[in-house]
Amino acid sequence: MSDKKQQTNSAWGGRFSEQTDAFVEAFTASVQFDQRMYAQDIAGSRAHAKMLNKINILSDQDLNAVLGGLDQVEQEICDGKFNWSVAREDVHMNIEARLTELVGDAGKRLHTGRSRNDQVATDIRLYLREQIRFINVEISRLQWGILEVADREAETIMPGFTHLQVAQPVTFGHHVMAWYEMLKRDASRFADCQQRMNLSPLGAAALAGTSYPIDREFTAKELGFDGPTLNSLDSVSDRDFAIEFCASAAILLTHMSRMSEELVLWSSAQFDFIELPDRFCTGSSIMPQKKNPDVPELVRGKTGRVNGHLISLLTLMKSQPLAYNKDNQEDKEPLFDTVDTVLGCLRAFADMIPAIICKHDNMLKAARQGFSTATDLADYLVRKNLPFRDAHEVVGKAVALGVSSGKDLSELTLEQLQQFSEKIADDVFEVLTLEGSVASRNHIGGTAPEQVRKAVALARQAK
Ligand code: ARG
Repeated sequence: MSDKKQQTNSAWGGRFSEQTDAFVEAFTASVQFDQRMYAQDIAGSRAHAKMLNKINILSDQDLNAVLGGLDQVEQEICDGKFNWSVAREDVHMNIEARLTELVGDAGKRLHTGRSRNDQVATDIRLYLREQIRFINVEISRLQWGILEVADREAETIMPGFTHLQVAQPVTFGHHVMAWYEMLKRDASRFADCQQRMNLSPLGAAALAGTSYPIDREFTAKELGFDGPTLNSLDSVSDRDFAIEFCASAAILLTHMSRMSEELVLWSSAQFDFIELPDRFCTGSSIMPQKKNPDVPELVRGKTGRVNGHLISLLTLMKSQPLAYNKDNQEDKEPLFDTVDTVLGCLRAFADMIPAIICKHDNMLKAARQGFSTATDLADYLVRKNLPFRDAHEVVGKAVALGVSSGKDLSELTLEQLQQFSEKIADDVFEVLTLEGSVASRNHIGGTAPEQVRKAVALARQAK
């Protein structure tokens, strides 16, 4: 990046009697980060130039010069040959200045009837719209991985938890299908946000519109927007779409932090339910025995910065008077970091999740502890006509005996169980088994292996 002093302030120098302070120039520049929107900026300029030509503001000759010049600028950027300059402040002025170097006056005419204010609002929408497509592809890839695991582990029994205490047995497939549902909502939130943002602010100009007879429908269509935005002041100042995007990202990452937490717990020696393949873990430089679940830990940690970016944007917009304020230049770094972080986390998870190795025996053993079939015993008594509250009491006593004698309910003898209720017969042991317990929860949304398989099949169909 080179500072070309003679170009300083070329965009507004007429009004000024001295050069911008060198530090202020660097301080107010955004080209270091907004250059990533170059493709969107060029697309916006192409659409704007064609529109100006259509309404006879830009001649055919100038239009051809501009379009040819923009192609060359784009090529230079792609080839890494473009000379980004802090003196030219941002992506918009860098591109326009280079275009003018290449094609002369036609380049200078391009800015007729537009402002960087509507330009930047357009560029961000175009950029985010595309990134959401990439994000939803990655969410989908992760979901496919989850379906693979759910199918494979539809019958794998593990303890289900409430309060992180063993509650009732569930299947591992059922557990990961809960993750699937979270991600389904995330994808639809992003799609929603993408749809709402797909309107074109181009033509709002600085804030009030322009005196040229512009065709906003035309530019909107050229850029694949559903139509133009309807108020020029709102168009240049609105960043709702960025906030919504970050909110969707924060919820997604919050979900992923919950998955991460479970993966970290499950791969600990204390749980020992799963193993993450070595390629997703790292060791310790001092403790030779260590294998750390770095990927889920890092995703858990990155949730903090993504949630932080949402708060940054909300705070950025809070109390901002209409219309455009330079504050808004601060929208980009949180936004771009959110995009990068979300895509990175999704990629790591989409690769890792299908590779989870389940330790079936350990999960089963854990489900056997903690009286996870106590509710099944209560339900059994209810089926034998005992009111649920009384059944709850009976089972409570049986559990107390189990605790004092160090035995699971299924390990108590019939005689021991019968001392709490004469309704208990030897068919009780069918409901006390873990397999019987999970198989009995056989309705939409239940944990029975049959339901897990159905949920997987439905999800695959819907994709
Ligand atoms: N670099 C600016 C931004 O990112 C572009 C718009 C600047 N407009 C202005 N009048 N200063 O928001």
